[in-house]
Amino acid sequence: MSHRSLNCLTTIASLVIFNNIICAQAPAKLTLELDKPGKVVSPMLYGLMTEEINFSYDGGLYGELIRNRIFRDSEKGATFWDKVQGPEDKCSITLDRTNAVNTSLPASLRLDVEKAAGRAGIANEGYWGIAIKAGTTYQGSFYARRSEIQAQTLTVTLESRDGKTVYAAAEITGISTEWKPYHFTLTTKSDVQPTAHARFVITTKKEGSYWFNLVSLFPPTYKDRLNGNRPDLMQLLADMKPAFLRFPGGNYLEGMNFINRWDWKKTIGPLEHRAGHMSPWEYRSTDGMGLLEFLQWSEDVNAEPLVAVFAGFVLSKDYLEAGPFLQPFVDDALDEIEYITGDASTKWGTQRAKDGHPQPFKLNYIEIGNEDGFDYSGSYRERYIQFYDAIKAKYPNLQIISTIGGKDPLGAGVPPPPETKLQIVDEHYYRTASQMEENAKQYDNYDRNGPKVFVGEWATREGYPTTNFNAALGDAAWMTGMERNSDHVIMSCYAPLLVNVNPGGMQWECDLIGYDALNSFGSPSYYAQKLFSNNIGNSIINIVGKNIPRQLQKLTGRDSAQGITQPKNIDAFFFVATRDTTNGKVYLKMVNTQAIAQPVTINLNTSGKVTRNGRQWVLKASDPNDTNTIKEPNKIVPVEVPVKGIAKAFNRVLPAYSITVMELGIK
Ligand code: AHR
Repeated sequence: MSHRSLNCLTTIASLVIFNNIICAQAPAKLTLELDKPGKVVSPMLYGLMTEEINFSYDGGLYGELIRNRIFRDSEKGATFWDKVQGPEDKCSITLDRTNAVNTSLPASLRLDVEKAAGRAGIANEGYWGIAIKAGTTYQGSFYARRSEIQAQTLTVTLESRDGKTVYAAAEITGISTEWKPYHFTLTTKSDVQPTAHARFVITTKKEGSYWFNLVSLFPPTYKDRLNGNRPDLMQLLADMKPAFLRFPGGNYLEGMNFINRWDWKKTIGPLEHRAGHMSPWEYRSTDGMGLLEFLQWSEDVNAEPLVAVFAGFVLSKDYLEAGPFLQPFVDDALDEIEYITGDASTKWGTQRAKDGHPQPFKLNYIEIGNEDGFDYSGSYRERYIQFYDAIKAKYPNLQIISTIGGKDPLGAGVPPPPETKLQIVDEHYYRTASQMEENAKQYDNYDRNGPKVFVGEWATREGYPTTNFNAALGDAAWMTGMERNSDHVIMSCYAPLLVNVNPGGMQWECDLIGYDALNSFGSPSYYAQKLFSNNIGNSIINIVGKNIPRQLQKLTGRDSAQGITQPKNIDAFFFVATRDTTNGKVYLKMVNTQAIAQPVTINLNTSGKVTRNGRQWVLKASDPNDTNTIKEPNKIVPVEVPVKGIAKAFNRVLPAYSITVMELGIK
C-alpha cells in the first residue's frame, strides 16, 4: 500500500454506499454557480515551451537522421562515424581541415581507400540508431569531392548495424574533384520490418580518396516540410491544441557564454551556412531547427509564436550593463521581430521571404531574456527597460514579458522592472506532486491589478525520463488552479517538452513526451494536459466546494532537500469548471489524488435546461508510480465513459487516483 493510501485511510471515518458502490468516505459536494457571470478564460492559457535539451531537436523533433553531419561535434575525430570494410579491404577515416567547403563547414571527413576487394567506406549510426519504416522514401544529400582518380560510383545504403540486411540502396556517379552537392533518394520495400537500429553507409569498390561534408538524410516530415519535423512527435504536439509555442528557451536562449547564446541570424538560410553551436546542455546543436523552422512549427500546430529574445545575460553569469554595449543586442531583437512580422518592404521581412516564407507571422508576445533572477547583479531592471522602450517604440502593440517581477522564488530579491513597464511576468515552478497540490490555490488571491502572469515553465517532477501518474495528479491539481484564475494567469507552458529516452539522451529528468529513433509516447502528464487543453470554455464558473477530502502531504527527498520536514494537511481533491458561452457546453474537471474512490454530488445551479447525457474522460492508474514507456506507450491513456442521468443534482464516483473531465450540456 502506498504512502498516499495510508495517509487517506487514517482519516477514514466510515464506509458509505454511493451509487451502489462502496466508498470509503463521505461525498464531496460541488455547486456550480451557473447563473452567476464568470470571468473570462484566457484563450492563450495552454501552450508549449521548447528548447534544445534532452536531444529535443537533433535526435528528436527535427527530422535529420545523420548525427554529426558537418563533423563539428568533436575536434578530435569523426564521432558517430565509423569506417566500413570487409576482410579483404583496407581503408581509414580522418578529419581533414585543409580544404573547407566554406567557413561554416571547415572540417570534412576524409576517406582513404587503400584496398577495395569488396567495399570500403563510412557509416553513420544516427541518433542511437536510424529508424527504418516500410515503404518509405528518404531524401539524402552530401557534399563530396574525390582525389585525382578516375571517377567511381558511390553506393549509399540504409542497412542493419552488421551490414547483413540492406533496407534500401542507391548509386551516385560523377563525383568531382571539386566540392559539389549530390542528392539521392532511398526507398524501403513495403514488407520491411521496422527497426530503430539501422545505419547509413556510403561505400566505394575502388581505391582512392574521398571527402564528405554536410551528409544529410531525412525521412518524410510533418506536412512535407523541407528541413522539417518528425510526424509522430508533431502529431502528439498538435493534438494538445496549443495556443502558443515559447521558444527558443530556456537556458538554450542564453547559452553558457556570449559565443554560444542563441544567435538567431546564424540559424537562418541554407544549411551549408549553419555552423551550429554548443548548447548549454552539453552537446552541439546543428541549428537545423532555426528561427524559421520554429515559426513554421508554430504554424503547423496552429500556435502563435512566443519569442524570447536574448537580453545580454548568459548562464556563466556574465552580462552586459544597459547602455551602448547592450544596444547591438537590442537592435538584434528588433531585427528578429522584423524577420517574423515584416513585409516585403522591410529588410528582414524580405530575407524571410527569400528563406521560403513570404507571409509574415502573427506575433503578439515577446519575452525579454530567461530566468534573469539568476543575474544577482540586478542588471536586469535596466536591461529590460532598454529592450522594452525600443520594442514598444517600434511595435507598440506587442505584449512584453518580464522574467522578473513574479512571485516565484527565483526572482526574489532581484530588482524588478518598474511597474509602469510590467505587462506580463513569467513565473517558473518545478515541484513535487504534493507541492503542486498544496499550491493549487496559489493564484486565487493574486492581485488582479498587478501584471498578468505567464507560467512560462512548470512541471511536477516525479518519474523519469518521463513523468509517472503521481506527477500527472500534481499537474492536474495545479492546472485546476491556473484555469480557475485564467483571467489573470493568461498563459502557461510545461517544461521540458521532449526527451530522447536512450541512455545519454536525457539531461533533465521528468519530461512530457519520450521517444527513440522509431517510437514515441506521451507521459501520463501529457494526457492530463491534453485533456485540460482540449476541453475548455471561454468563461470561468464559480464552484462552491464542501466536504473536500484532505490528505497528509507525502514528503519526498526533494522536499527534505528544500528543508520541508513536517507533512502538512492539504486538499486531496481538486476541481475547476468553465463554460463555452457559444454552445452551452460546460467542462468540469476533477482530480482525485487519493488511493480510494471519491464520491461526489454535483449541483448545477442554473435556470437553464440540463441535457441528460454528457461525455466524460477518465485518466487513472492503479499505482501512482505507473507510467507509459516505449514498450507500453498506452498503459495510461484517457478512456471515454458515457455519462447518463445528468440532472440539476447528480452523483458520481471518481475512481482512486484519477483525473476526470466531464462535458455537460446546459442551454
Ligand atoms: O526546463 C529546463 C530549464 O529549467 C530551462 O532551460 C530553464 O529556463 C529552467 O531553469
